[in-house]
Amino acid sequence: MAKRIDLFDSTYSHFTKQILETIRKETFGQDIGQNSWTTVEEYDRFLSWLDLRPEHHALEVASGSGGPARYLANSVSCRVTGIDANEAGVATANLSVASSNEADRITFEVADANSPLPFDNNFFDAILCIDSMNHFPDRLKVFQEWHRVLRPGRRAVFTDPVLITGPVTNDELAVRSSIGLFLFVPLEVNEQLIEASGFRLLKHEDVSANAALVSERWHESRQRHRDALIKIEGEERFKGLQQFFAAVHRLTSERRLSRIVYLVEKPAR
Ligand SMILES: C[S@@+](CC[C@H](N)C(=O)[O-])C[C@H]1O[C@@H](n2cnc3c(N)ncnc32)[C@H](O)[C@@H]1O
Repeated sequence: MAKRIDLFDSTYSHFTKQILETIRKETFGQDIGQNSWTTVEEYDRFLSWLDLRPEHHALEVASGSGGPARYLANSVSCRVTGIDANEAGVATANLSVASSNEADRITFEVADANSPLPFDNNFFDAILCIDSMNHFPDRLKVFQEWHRVLRPGRRAVFTDPVLITGPVTNDELAVRSSIGLFLFVPLEVNEQLIEASGFRLLKHEDVSANAALVSERWHESRQRHRDALIKIEGEERFKGLQQFFAAVHRLTSERRLSRIVYLVEKPAR
């Protein structure tokens, strides 16, 4: 059984360290402060599906260090609220915004996406959630909350990076989920829950190739900077994370665990 390895706490606490910036640059090409399998080209494509305009207000669920949310606020000139359960992530996000000229348009707060969201009904014009749905065990409740806070006729986009689409051993699942709480479901479950919560599924696409590529580059870059990383992470955590990135690459490139993006809409009244 794989041991639990911290990825988020330590990464977000050291997010602005030069070595982690170098690794993000080598991994993602353009570093927008992401800590997921998304690249800026992919994130831009997802944003284009949401039809966001400057007068709109978007919610990013599991906003991590806040980089993608800031990128979104800048590309559309709209308001963005980001929530994440990780206090170090939210602190890093708030710090980066405080020293910018976007402070009046971007807010980050600590909130658990598994709990009722601290927002009024019909409040947001879009919801984004990248590579985080797998950390929310009661997915129906999560979709119902998104449905409640989204305005009628508006859209949400999310990726699920660990759909079961082939044979996977218990050891592989253990390594893939060694960084925290994971929910693995087959394809049909998401479609059923989307419908059961009142959303309409507009499209879904296999975006596993991005995860396969990013995880491979992340693993290679970390290996190149092994000595510097071990000073931050320690040897055991470094090795555990290398196993994690190798497992993501193997499982997604073989499409045994697939990464799917979903675009859903709350029907207009
Ligand atoms: C793979 S990261 C993705 C972060 C960000 N979306 C990005 O693209 O960089 C997953 C995020 O989910 C957050 N998370 C995990 N469980 C959560 C929960 N119950 N509520 C809110 N956020 C959670 C983690 O703290 C982490 O920031």
